[in-house]
Amino acid sequence: MAPQRSIPQITGSGPKRVTVVEVGPRDGLQNERVRVPTATKVQFIEALADAGLKRIEATSFVLPEAVPQLTDAEAVFAQLHRQPGVRYSALTPNMRGLERAEAANVREIAVFTAATDTFVRHNIRMTLEGSLEHLAPVVSRARADGVGVRGYVSTVFGCPYEGAVQPEQGIAVAERLFAMGVQEVSIGDTIGVATPGDVVRWLRAAEGRLPFDQLALHFHDTRGTALANVLVGLEFGIRTFDSTAGGVGGCPFAPGASGNLATEDLLYTLHGLGYETGVDLNKIMLASNIIANCLDHMLPSRVYQAARVTSCLPIGRS
Ligand code: COA
Ligand code: ZN
Repeated sequence: MAPQRSIPQITGSGPKRVTVVEVGPRDGLQNERVRVPTATKVQFIEALADAGLKRIEATSFVLPEAVPQLTDAEAVFAQLHRQPGVRYSALTPNMRGLERAEAANVREIAVFTAATDTFVRHNIRMTLEGSLEHLAPVVSRARADGVGVRGYVSTVFGCPYEGAVQPEQGIAVAERLFAMGVQEVSIGDTIGVATPGDVVRWLRAAEGRLPFDQLALHFHDTRGTALANVLVGLEFGIRTFDSTAGGVGGCPFAPGASGNLATEDLLYTLHGLGYETGVDLNKIMLASNIIANCLDHMLPSRVYQAARVTSCLPIGRS
């Protein structure tokens, strides 16, 4: 029998500070059908920073044809009034992306690959191994230039092409990213299939092999399990979680499905458990309002919806 874990990590003794990494302007908007005007994106990002978020992934410097929603990356960074102490990052797939990001004075990038070869081939037309080889010089150059580097591993818990994914696959990829000089790895449930049991199995397998204080968990709420998965992460000592304001986004592989875990829902739960995030939930809902007006659907965040139903003003735990 595996040793039983008890609740105290979540509600009691562990560190009570959690970092929320807001990925709405990038992961969220890249999965929305509508194209949001640059000025609205900038307003959205500025409102997110006003709410107290210290880490915001603002856009992608990718091939414009690959992600038409984010072709205005240069303009977003040019127009953004950056607040001191806030880390505004951008996704970069390759050296060209890094060069564009550096030219826009971006001080933190995110590189990405996946736990499964077929997903990498579909996403960036490379093998998994090829993508790691390709990323190594990008990471080295960024680090040499003093640019921070986060790495994403997608499809850690399930792949739209390969199905179930063993913990070992994602762990091995994360190890390679750390060995390259990536400072934080975000473990992605890209298609939102993970259950708490899967997360327990994954984190048990990763314990002792990956530095948990440099891991982030990135859940999509496609099947309603994202928050339950966060609780498992907290129990294992993970203190960094990715989310999108309003739950903006979706899943390109499951039309109509909800997207990333919503920042509001994450904050409501964390604050209720006594965690400090430094983020004002009501102000996040004001940021979500900015983007809600542009989208062709209701924002999926449950906390956001509840606030709208029960009052014209945002209410809830702040
Ligand atoms: N920004 C702008 N242009 C880029 C670019 C970038 N980051 N990377 C490559 N290009 C240009 C090249 O300069 C080249 O242009 P040219 O023909 O005028 O010389 C052209 O694109 C083709 O370059 P190539 O290296 O062959 O790239 P590719 O066509 O194989 O595309 C990626 C590979 C990775 C750049 C592209 O698939 C991509 O950006 N994917 C992003 C996918 C994504 O964001 N997914 C979501 C994240 S999980
Ligand atoms: Zn995602």
